[in-house]
Amino acid sequence: MNIIILLGPPGAGKGTVSEVLTQHGIKHVSTGDMLRKEIRNNTELGLRSHKKISQGLFADDDDVMTMVTEFLFNQKKENFIIFDGFPRTLIQAEKLDLLTKNSEIKIFNVLRLKCPEDVLISRLSGRRTCVVCGAVYHDIFSPPKIFGRCDIEDGSLAKRLDDEPVVIKRRLKIYNKLTKPLADYYKNKSMLVELDANCSPQEVRDHTLKVYEDIIWW
Ligand code: AP5
Repeated sequence: MNIIILLGPPGAGKGTVSEVLTQHGIKHVSTGDMLRKEIRNNTELGLRSHKKISQGLFADDDDVMTMVTEFLFNQKKENFIIFDGFPRTLIQAEKLDLLTKNSEIKIFNVLRLKCPEDVLISRLSGRRTCVVCGAVYHDIFSPPKIFGRCDIEDGSLAKRLDDEPVVIKRRLKIYNKLTKPLADYYKNKSMLVELDANCSPQEVRDHTLKVYEDIIWW
């Protein structure tokens, strides 16, 4: 199994990249989605993570590694997967290296999305997510046909608990401190590919397909 790691600040559009790769047969795995599921299910791990995420802090490395390890060892059939939002700390990156060492799981490359901070803030401030299917909208950049309702499932659209202005600022600060250094970590391993995400969703899709044209199903 080959892992594509998506690295990028909150709001960079990891959702757009994931969506296009999923449409071309690559399985999407988001540790943010996994954690939100644990929270919805009121598991111990979810309860521990809930307070941290709502404050814009990271979940515990050990909790994240527990979820990821369980996932990896139950996934034997996939050829490629995208890790969206994992690893997010140096500790997680080193633990992933240990997990994949001497195994059939390899890191294929690391796609880093770059976008200025003012653009990230405006994207996150207007994001709305369908409570039924998880589809993502934006009040201005990609509004639904009917205000407040999902185009696909007609579910109501909600703001994510960590998309409040004060929490967005904290998330960006923590990203810069703990996650951004991973770009150098993977650059030193010659695994890093950079993508300018300060453009339209269609341009992001096109650039992504160009990077992965040799491995996706057309
Ligand atoms: P997670 O769910 O992974 O959130 P994130 O990394 O903060 O990223 P976002 O989902 O906010 O941003 P995105 O880049 O996916 O943006 P999107 O495509 O939706 O994690 C949530 C939390 O869980 C973390 O803060 C942390 O606490 C915890 N966590 C998760 N993984 C962890 C780990 N490994 N270790 C520890 N803790 C962990 O786009 C955003 C908006 O912009 C949308 O409205 C979209 O419509 C719009 N948009 C996107 N692209 C464009 C564009 N090109 N032009 C115009 N609008 C655009």
